[in-house]
Amino acid sequence: MKPAIKVENLTKYYGKFLALEKIDFEVREGEIFGFLGPNGAGKTTTQKILTGILKPSGGQVSILGYDMEKDPYNAKRFTGIVPDETNAYVDMNAWDNLTLIGELYGMPKKNIEVKAKELLEIFQLYDRRKDRVKGFSKGMKRRLILSMGLIHNPRILFLDEPTSGLDVQSTRLIRKMITDLNREGVTVFLTTHDIEEANQMCDRVAIIYQGKIAAIDRPENLKKAVKAAQSIEVSFHRQVEIIKELEDLPEVDEVRKQGDKIRLFTREPGKVIRPLVEYAHKNRLEFLTLNTLGPSLEEVFVKLTEDKESVAGV
Ligand SMILES: Nc1ncnc2c1ncn2[C@@H]1O[C@H](COP(=O)(O)OP(=O)(O)O)[C@@H](O)[C@H]1O
Ligand SMILES: [Mg+2]
Repeated sequence: MKPAIKVENLTKYYGKFLALEKIDFEVREGEIFGFLGPNGAGKTTTQKILTGILKPSGGQVSILGYDMEKDPYNAKRFTGIVPDETNAYVDMNAWDNLTLIGELYGMPKKNIEVKAKELLEIFQLYDRRKDRVKGFSKGMKRRLILSMGLIHNPRILFLDEPTSGLDVQSTRLIRKMITDLNREGVTVFLTTHDIEEANQMCDRVAIIYQGKIAAIDRPENLKKAVKAAQSIEVSFHRQVEIIKELEDLPEVDEVRKQGDKIRLFTREPGKVIRPLVEYAHKNRLEFLTLNTLGPSLEEVFVKLTEDKESVAGV
C-alpha cells in the first residue's frame, strides 16, 4: 500500500532563514499522525507545503503516491485542509461559506446541500447557518472551517492546531469528530503544540523543533521521555554551591543551576520532596520557592535528542 503522505528531504528557507531542515517521514493510510512542536517549530510551514499552498525550497512530497510538484491536481484532490486561521468569509453566513467550498470542488448541488446540513448539525451550527460568520465565537469559527475542510469527503485531513485556544466544549466536539472520521477510514495529519492532545489522539507522533524532527514514535514511548523531563525547582535563602549532595538524593537524575534557582530533574517528583526537605534542614537552608514543573516541549525535545545521541554513540 502506498503511504498516505511521504516526505523526503523537505527543506524550506524564508529568505536566509532555514525553517525546515531535511525533514523525512511517512504517514500510513488510516492513522492519526501527530505533528507536535512548540511555537515556531515549523508545523504550519510543513502543513502548507504538504497541502500545496506553499512551495518547498527542496525535497519531495507525495500524497497517496502523487507527486506534489509533478501532479499537484491529484496530490491535492483527496485532501481536506483546516488551516490555523479562519479562511471563511466573515461577511457571509455559515451556509453560504460551506456551500461555496462545495462548488469550488465541483460537487453536484444536491450532494453539497445534504453534506452541508449533515456537517453543520454535527458541529452544532445548523441553527446558526444563516448568521454572518463575523458574529461567531472562536470555537464556532473553528467548527465552521472544519466543516469546510470536510465538505468533499477527503481521504486525508490536515489540521493545523484545530483546538488551540478553544473552550472545552468545542475542543471535545472537534476531537470526537476527528476520531469518528478516522474510524471511518480518513487519514489524519494533526498539528498540535499540546503534548496531551498528541498522546490521547495519535497512533504515532513526530516531534518537531526548530525545523528538525527529533523523533517519530508511538505516544507510549514519547510519554517516557516526557516523564523524564519532569523537575522540581527550588531556591533557598542563600546560594548553594554544593550540587553534588543534591545529585545524590534518591530519584534525582540530574541537577542544574539556573540563576538563583536549582532544577532537579526526576521521574518521581513525589519521592524527591522529603529527602530535599531533609537536605535543606541539615544544611540550615530555608526554602524561598519550591515548585514541581511539568516538562516543556523544548525539554522533551532535548531529552529525545540526547537519548538518540547516546544510542548512536554506543
Ligand atoms: N512567511 C514567513 N516569512 C519569514 N519567516 C517565516 C514565515 N512564516 C514562518 N516563518 C518562520 O518560520 C518558523 C516556523 O514557522 P511556523 O511554520 O509558522 O511554525 P509553527 O506553526 O510550528 O508555529 C518560525 O521561526 C517563523 O517565524
Ligand atoms: Mg503554526
